[in-house]
Amino acid sequence: MSFFQDKVVVITGGSDGIGKALIETLIPLGAKVATCGRNHDKIYKLQMEYSHVLLHAMACDVSNEQECRRFIESTLETFGGIDILINNAGISMRALFLDSDTEVTRRVMEINFLGAVYCTKYALPSILERKGVVVGVSSTAGYRGLPGRSAYSASKFALQGWLESLRTELLKTGVHVMWVCPGFTTSNIRHAALDSRGHAGGDSVLDEAKLMSAQECARHIVRAIEKRKRTLVLTFLGKVTVLINKLYPSLADRLTYNHYYNKKGEFVK
Ligand SMILES: NC(=O)c1ccc[n+]([C@@H]2O[C@H](COP(=O)([O-])OP(=O)(O)OC[C@H]3O[C@@H](n4cnc5c(N)ncnc54)[C@H](OP(=O)(O)O)[C@@H]3O)[C@@H](O)[C@H]2O)c1
Repeated sequence: MSFFQDKVVVITGGSDGIGKALIETLIPLGAKVATCGRNHDKIYKLQMEYSHVLLHAMACDVSNEQECRRFIESTLETFGGIDILINNAGISMRALFLDSDTEVTRRVMEINFLGAVYCTKYALPSILERKGVVVGVSSTAGYRGLPGRSAYSASKFALQGWLESLRTELLKTGVHVMWVCPGFTTSNIRHAALDSRGHAGGDSVLDEAKLMSAQECARHIVRAIEKRKRTLVLTFLGKVTVLINKLYPSLADRLTYNHYYNKKGEFVK
């Protein structure tokens, strides 16, 4: 029998990218899934794809604490409890700090960090009862600050530090706390990234076809949850970045600069 058979899994941000791929991986494994996103049409369309017995999809902005509370409470009413919470909803940004409104940093922190805090707050009593799992979807940017992504890096560092504290607080309870760091993965994230004024949009500077697929990323995450791994860092580039940054931080500064700036010293990515 699959590890996920009849487990209730909450995945925030399931209407696109990695979250959607997680739903498509977990439902065939027997899980009951609850998910959310801000866009009502996408959530409605997603709900139409699955019966209400398998999927509970609800519009919810994770940066709003009361909406998170309602989402988690309605999940508990629908499925009777929560075994696994995957804090996946997130946005990115692309702008140098000097040029950006501070609103960009606030918005990214509210979604990527506080969104996870709010959902975990309301789901944790049930996860404790079921000795379940809390997962944070972080990023290589949670280990290595990236230029032009200062708010995004800050949000992922915060997420990891907070989850590490939580893991320690829950060490003797049977609840497992972990984070996973996808590398560059095909999704909508670069198109939805905020610019210096906090507006979403813009073209991806990466060739999406060359990135890891969201489906492959989801398979790695699901396996890591089943094995109760502490952390998962995906892609060769992601693993090398984390390692070099740990062992040789000033070399990592230079390599990262060279990756994001051209020879004239212009920020290009
Ligand atoms: N793709 C990558 O290369 C990559 C790399 C490292 C880490 N990650 C992380 O992976 C996670 C998923 O990203 P993705 O690449 O799959 O991005 P995506 O394709 O843009 O999907 C993001 C999902 O989150 C939802 N979302 C965004 N803001 C939300 C909010 N305030 N409240 C509720 N839902 C919200 C989106 O729906 P709505 O817009 O409708 O709300 C969407 O369903 C993120 O945490 C991201 O930081 C991605």
